[in-house]
Amino acid sequence: MNFLQILLIILGIIIALILIFGLPRKKNLRKPSIEGLDNPEVAAAFEKMTNFLPFKLLRRKILSQLKLYKSTGKLVDLGCGSGNLIVEIAKNLLNLDLIGVDISNEILNLAKERAFQNDLNKKIEFKIGNVEDLPFPDNSIDFLLSTLSLHHWQDPIRAFNEFFRVLKDDGTLLIFDFRRDARKFFYGLLKFATKIVVPKALKRINEPLGSLQAGYTPKEINQMVSQSPFNNIEIEPFLAWTFIEMKK
Ligand SMILES: C[S@@+](CC[C@H](N)C(=O)[O-])C[C@H]1O[C@@H](n2cnc3c(N)ncnc32)[C@H](O)[C@@H]1O
Repeated sequence: MNFLQILLIILGIIIALILIFGLPRKKNLRKPSIEGLDNPEVAAAFEKMTNFLPFKLLRRKILSQLKLYKSTGKLVDLGCGSGNLIVEIAKNLLNLDLIGVDISNEILNLAKERAFQNDLNKKIEFKIGNVEDLPFPDNSIDFLLSTLSLHHWQDPIRAFNEFFRVLKDDGTLLIFDFRRDARKFFYGLLKFATKIVVPKALKRINEPLGSLQAGYTPKEINQMVSQSPFNNIEIEPFLAWTFIEMKK
């Protein structure tokens, strides 16, 4: 590699860092997005999108986070979608009882199919349900987990109250979602993905850009969770997303 090539690489890295960290945050009003992935075409298109690298990296990150906790008990994936995450969990954390909950029957069928294909249909239970009214008794769940679903919920405060009700006293809630006040660079990226990369059914409903525009800012999340009975709360915002960890 000659001097000019090294210089170009360094310049490229500096420009990328400026774009990712240097551009200001977008300040825009929240645009609520669709609730459940009910349309068969949209569900199938979403399922395709979950094979993209960022989704895979997210699943890896959540899995390594989960491995830090005790690995027995009952775990519920809230808004489990087509089941990629819960199937990965089933393959890696063998002693957990696993339940996937989603409001959409259409997407749950894809999740059941995925579990069946991986010979895990006896290991994972799937239930239709709304996060605001969960089909579980009080103090019965060890882990509640949710990725990329919070921005769809109609009444998140009600959902947080419901999570408090069903979690055991030493239970943990982990949520990952987009933050609407992401750096402008990520709006550019998701605009590009929405207009060019994703299947047509998602383009028609403005996804994944619509999900970013429907996300909550860390400040809004803080306001919402402070109205819930949880008092052990950690909110970790980063470039375009937020991790929330709460314990009873
Ligand atoms: C963008 S998908 C994410 C799916 C999956 N968690 C993932 O990360 O691949 C959002 C999911 O949340 C579900 N959902 C939306 N609102 C819900 C609610 N109120 N209760 C339960 N599930 C909900 C949708 O049907 C959809 O499957």
